[in-house]
Amino acid sequence: MAQLKPAALPLAVSLCCLSALLPWSAAASYGGGKPLVTAITKDAATKLYTAPLKDSRPLVLDLSGPLIWSTCPPKHPSFECHHHVCAHAHSYHPPDCPRTGHGVADEDDPFRCKCTAHPYNPFARKAGSGDLTRVTVTANDTDGKNPLRPVSFPAVAACAPHSLLAKLPAGAVGVAGLASSRVALPAQVSRAQKVANKFALCLPSGGQGVAIFGGGPLFLLPPGRPDVTTTLAGTTPLRRNPALPGYFISARGIAVNQGQVQPGPLVVGLSSRVPYTELRADVYGPFVKAFDRATAERKRVTPAAAPFELCYDSRELGSTRLGYAVPQVDLMLEGGANWTVFGGNSMVQVDDNTACFGFVRMAREEKGAPAVVIGGFQMENNLLVFDEEKRQLGFSSLLFGRQTTCSNFNFTLAA
Ligand SMILES: *[C@@H]1O[C@H](CO)[C@@H](O)[C@H](O)[C@H]1NC(C)=O
Ligand SMILES: *[C@@H]1O[C@H](CO)[C@@H](O)[C@H](O)[C@H]1NC(C)=O
Ligand SMILES: *[C@@H]1O[C@H](CO)[C@@H](O)[C@H](O)[C@H]1NC(C)=O
Repeated sequence: MAQLKPAALPLAVSLCCLSALLPWSAAASYGGGKPLVTAITKDAATKLYTAPLKDSRPLVLDLSGPLIWSTCPPKHPSFECHHHVCAHAHSYHPPDCPRTGHGVADEDDPFRCKCTAHPYNPFARKAGSGDLTRVTVTANDTDGKNPLRPVSFPAVAACAPHSLLAKLPAGAVGVAGLASSRVALPAQVSRAQKVANKFALCLPSGGQGVAIFGGGPLFLLPPGRPDVTTTLAGTTPLRRNPALPGYFISARGIAVNQGQVQPGPLVVGLSSRVPYTELRADVYGPFVKAFDRATAERKRVTPAAAPFELCYDSRELGSTRLGYAVPQVDLMLEGGANWTVFGGNSMVQVDDNTACFGFVRMAREEKGAPAVVIGGFQMENNLLVFDEEKRQLGFSSLLFGRQTTCSNFNFTLAA
């Protein structure tokens, strides 16, 4: 066995571990054929969502991330740079990251080229470089009603320097990319568990939300309710955006209070990286003006609490099952369904007596930027089903309408 040079430790691979890097098809002896369930927690400080997916330690969920990445112990196995997973790990290149090729020479074996991946931290807007390795993904398998038993499997992931954890929630050890790449989490669960390449995401506003990789079924308490994944409010095609990994849909327009304010087609992205839905400046202006007009009679709080522009005295807004009684916003989607945003997803409570219209102007318009990026707050308590096989997004609409929430999965292990 090769001696490890102390100076080379952080990137070193010991030959004893190479056998751990069997192609993933050969390594899948644990596939139980059942979807995996994980709890989701919202971090109050960063407003990011995490799940205990790496050795039961939290990874930040990133709908736009093409990779899983985490810090690694000094000794870890690494992939060779001509391995096919290395090519998949390079299918998206992080912004501002030098193009250093697919690998570097292995210090311990001059004939071996180690795969270097480029993990990206979108919250700190920083990219790093690290070996492509395997980490242990942990979750429970599920019948859709309860967790059944713990499951773990080795997943392809990039190592990242410790500094890349900047701006992640305290305790988070990396990021779980949920985008549609072959080395993102959903595709890897699909191969390991032999389940469909789709996942159901139910982000919580508090308490524990739930994600099911493999799709469904998904039952939320109270008992006796139908499977939410088969009683969706609508579906719409998922669209590719060659410039950006992640999920995109197309809208025919946006309406406020049933009146169309923005004609389409509009590219709409979904992002767990941003706390509130962002609209491109040209879309934001008319949209906020329309909501302002539709709420002209309501008592305002000025100045508005940044980053919002319209704030109201929440004691006078009136409440419904679906949140504050405010005009509804319709994203009129390709295919004919509407993603309707009710008060529960449009009004952000900023203090005891103030609620603000929770949409913001896009600060930075990157190349190929969509017109709208639906952020975390607007997705909370809505079940979303990202179906890579059908290239389709399904959505439940606000679960309050069914007298339940994303925090109502029964996480008690089934007897
Ligand atoms: C599996 O489910 C049990 C019961 O809810 C929970 O305590 C445990 O943390 C879960 N394991 C993982 C890795 O999520
Ligand atoms: C979608 O929303 C628009 C605007 O509010 C409305 O005119 C239309 O009837 C809605 N369509 C459906 C199918 O609900
Ligand atoms: C949650 O699941 C456990 C295990 O199946 C069951 O005993 C319990 O009654 C369930 N809780 C509710 C509120 O249904």
